[in-house]
Amino acid sequence: PVHTVTTLPTTRQPGCPFDPPAELTDAQRHGSISRCTHVGGKPGWLITGYDMVRSVLADSRFSARKELLNVGDFEVPPPPPGEFLLMDDPQHRRYRKPLAGKFTVRRMRQLTERIEQITADCLDAMEQAGPSADLVTAFAKPIPTIIICELLGVPYEDRGSFQEQIDLFLGGETSEEELIAAYTATQNYLAELVAAKRANPTDDVLSDLTDSDLTDEELQGISLILLVAGLDTTANMLSLGTFALLQHPEQLAALRADPALTGQAVEELLRYLSVAKTFMRTALEDIELGGQTITAGTTVILSYNTANRDPERFPDPHVLDLHRQQGGHLAFGHGIHQCLGQQLARIEMQVAFPALLNRFPTLRLAVPAEEVALRPETADIYGVKSLPVTWDA
Ligand code: HEM
Repeated sequence: PVHTVTTLPTTRQPGCPFDPPAELTDAQRHGSISRCTHVGGKPGWLITGYDMVRSVLADSRFSARKELLNVGDFEVPPPPPGEFLLMDDPQHRRYRKPLAGKFTVRRMRQLTERIEQITADCLDAMEQAGPSADLVTAFAKPIPTIIICELLGVPYEDRGSFQEQIDLFLGGETSEEELIAAYTATQNYLAELVAAKRANPTDDVLSDLTDSDLTDEELQGISLILLVAGLDTTANMLSLGTFALLQHPEQLAALRADPALTGQAVEELLRYLSVAKTFMRTALEDIELGGQTITAGTTVILSYNTANRDPERFPDPHVLDLHRQQGGHLAFGHGIHQCLGQQLARIEMQVAFPALLNRFPTLRLAVPAEEVALRPETADIYGVKSLPVTWDA
């Protein structure tokens, strides 16, 4: 009989902030596929095994279309124009293709110098205000925010208020009313930004895109998705990643001792933390999977974080091992929706982690680890709410 997860977890095991919720790891022990009940009450499937998650992501019979989501007794509206994360090809391709050329390894390398500068500026400010800080607000959030602002060509003088809106928007602790207000303000701002770039193109991704057949509304949607997808993910990798390193002093020491380990270390942190932890797909037809039939119209939950902890794929999966040799984690997804910003995210992390560790050789938590406030499992992106740190001045 197939394993059933009746209630989807809303928290992690106390004392295990980096491990997937016990219910999901337990489901994986029973096999790659379990029955589950979606939060809205509809029956569905939960996929926790590496190979199966990967094969669903490569299978065009599973759709990412938002309006097909079948999780409760309510209609889900289609995504606004440009929000291609929740579309299938060919619509998805229409948006992804013109953007793809802007996110190549080569282009991203050109950004490295800027990222180094921005990181150094954040560290200077931290040092001046120290010897303690909230790593989230002082370091993890500003770096990806400033980078996205530069990609979108947000004028320097607008940066402050724009950053505040995004903060509210993604903070996770914002009331419904504040959220709507922040969303509206961001949308209005992006509408103005698109109009400004059309009138006066500058040297940035958004201006480049005005030179295509995309409408203003579509450009606004694309900008929004870059913000949503690019900020909170990277920020949480930086803060939760620092927390994980501080909790694994021998790994931290290995990284400090050998800068050449950085690339591999970032991949292992991506695997181990999997902050973008679950995504959904809906079956377009009846599909056989692991001996079960997913009937057409049923939504499946893909657990990227348990897939990345699958013992069949990663020996000792729950160990953070910066020297790990097995690549191929699913932290950036797989298939047509595989993260468009992954090269940028990698460079940001490859620059930021070593810079932080070099600047503060005595960096440590300023509170007991149990007191670090974590996001609930219901948050789209996992991470810490704040990370109080201190160092010897
Ligand atoms: C898609 C993770 C950073 C832009 C995705 C997906 C994942 C992911 C898992 C696939 C979602 C799915 O399967 O449906 C991450 C993580 C990041 C990161 C862990 C940081 C460590 C970024 C950055 C940007 C970005 C910096 C842009 C500047 C996007 C976009 C998509 C995407 C546009 C949608 C791609 C598509 O639908 O074709 N990301 N991401 N991401 N990501 Fe990222």
